[in-house]
Amino acid sequence: MNIKTKNTGKDNIIKHNKSILIFYSMINFLIFGPPGSGKGTQSVMLAEKFNLTHLSTGDMLRAEIAAGTELGKKMSKIMATGELVPDEVVIEMIAKKIDNSKGSAGFLFDGFPRTVAQTISLEKMLNERGMKIDSMLVLEVNHVELVKRLIARAELSGRPDDKDPAVINNRIDVYKEKTEPIIDYCGKKGIYQPVNGMGTIDDIFKRLSDYMKKLV
Ligand code: AP5
Ligand code: MG
Repeated sequence: MNIKTKNTGKDNIIKHNKSILIFYSMINFLIFGPPGSGKGTQSVMLAEKFNLTHLSTGDMLRAEIAAGTELGKKMSKIMATGELVPDEVVIEMIAKKIDNSKGSAGFLFDGFPRTVAQTISLEKMLNERGMKIDSMLVLEVNHVELVKRLIARAELSGRPDDKDPAVINNRIDVYKEKTEPIIDYCGKKGIYQPVNGMGTIDDIFKRLSDYMKKLV
C-alpha cells in the first residue's frame, strides 16, 4: 500500500491511491492532580510552549459566574462547597469548545475529566473526531503543600472555595473519591504518567515539558 503522509502541523493529510484523506493529528493531554497541585499554573505555560488549546472547566464555570448567567448562579452554590457540578454541565461545555478550537497542535485538558463518566464521554468526543487522549500527566503533591498553596492563593484569588479550610479539605476528599479512579482507568490504557509536582514552578514545568516533548 502506498500511503504518503504530510504533517502540516495542524492536520495530517494522507494521500492514498490518489484520494486524499484528512484527519486530525492533534495530540491531547490531560493535566491531572488534586486541587492546588498546579494544573492551572502549568497549563498556561505548557499551552504556550506546545501550541495547545488550554481547556479548563473550572475557568469556564467561573466565567459563567462572572457573567451572571443562570447556569453560573446555580453552579456557584455547588462550587462553593467543593463538590463537583453535574457531569452533563461540563461535558456540554467541553463539547462546544472542541469544535471551535482548530488550528492548535492539540488540547490540554485541565480539571476535566473529573469522573470516570466524564472520561468516557471525552474519549467518545475525541474518537468521533479521529482523536484520543494521548497522555495523562498526574502532578503528585503532598497534602500539606496543597493546603498551604490554596490558603496562600485565597488572599489574592477571591475564590470562595479557597477561603475556608473545610472546603479545601472537602475538595481534596472529593478528588480522592471521585477523580482519582480515573488514574486506574487510564492506567490500563497505558497513558498514565506520574510527575513530581513538588518544587519550584520552573522545575515542574521542565519535568512536564520533558514528558510532553516525547509526544509532540
Ligand atoms: P478547578 O478550578 O478545576 O479547581 P481545582 O481542581 O480545585 O484546582 P485549583 O484550580 O484550585 O488548583 P490547580 O491544580 O489548578 O492549581 P493552581 O495552578 O491554581 O475547579 C473548581 C470547582 O469547579 C470544583 O471544585 C468543582 O466544583 C467545579 N468543577 C471544575 N471542573 C469540573 C468538572 N470537570 N466536573 C465537575 N465539577 C467541576 O495552583 C494553586 C496555587 O498554588 C496558585 O496560587 C499557584 O500560584 C500556586 N502554585 C502553583 N505551583 C506552585 C509551586 N510549584 N510552588 C508554590 N506555589 C505554587
Ligand atoms: Mg486550576
